[in-house]
Amino acid sequence: MKLFVILFVCALAISSSFAYDPSPLQDICVAIAEPKNAVFVNGKFCKNPNLTVADDFLYQGLNMPGDTNNKLGSKVTPVTVDQISGLNTLGISAARIDFAPYGLNPPHTHPRGTEFLIVVEGELYVGFVLSNQLGNRLITKVLKPGDVFVFPIGMIHFQLNVGKINAVAFAGLSSQNPGVITIANAVFGAKPPINPDVLTKAFQVDKKVIDYLQSQFWYDNN
Ligand SMILES: *[C@@H]1O[C@H](CO)[C@@H](O)[C@H](O)[C@H]1NC(C)=O
Repeated sequence: MKLFVILFVCALAISSSFAYDPSPLQDICVAIAEPKNAVFVNGKFCKNPNLTVADDFLYQGLNMPGDTNNKLGSKVTPVTVDQISGLNTLGISAARIDFAPYGLNPPHTHPRGTEFLIVVEGELYVGFVLSNQLGNRLITKVLKPGDVFVFPIGMIHFQLNVGKINAVAFAGLSSQNPGVITIANAVFGAKPPINPDVLTKAFQVDKKVIDYLQSQFWYDNN
């Protein structure tokens, strides 16, 4: 019995660290019978390496500020496998984030990537919220140029420019396609809308509040 328990625990440990299935590289990948309708595998199809050129590994223009003239006062310029096709299967990507004074990169999560953020200009109040299991504890910091901060994979996080000047940060993410789920957009801007009965109960507010939130335009700064 004791041996069985030990073997079972070992088997669990091995299966979690050496799972046979690869991690998903996009939100969904539904199997289809007819390959002519297929658009990608897990990630993207690979180019014949002999046909690869330097430009497959190049992105230009991250010196250009993103347009922060929007409701949030922020703009993310992503550099993922969609911008650099050479990133396919390499598990890494980048982004530039621009903030107008008091601009906000609103609470969001990256379902497939841990992020580190390097502030080069301005002052950012940043934070992330731990899971229910850890009591939804909020971890925050005010960052100045040269500061580097980490947002662990899956955690809801945000960045607010608390300075009077523009702020600029660069991010590295541990996925070729980290994905973004902006909380407000996903919850109140779902298409079609989530049944208000769900949100009224979930947020414990009057239906009028949910109607108001669902009627807003939820800008995507990515
Ligand atoms: C790429 O080039 C090598 C060496 O020239 C050749 O052996 C190989 O078959 C080529 N691969 C493909 C997929 O064409």
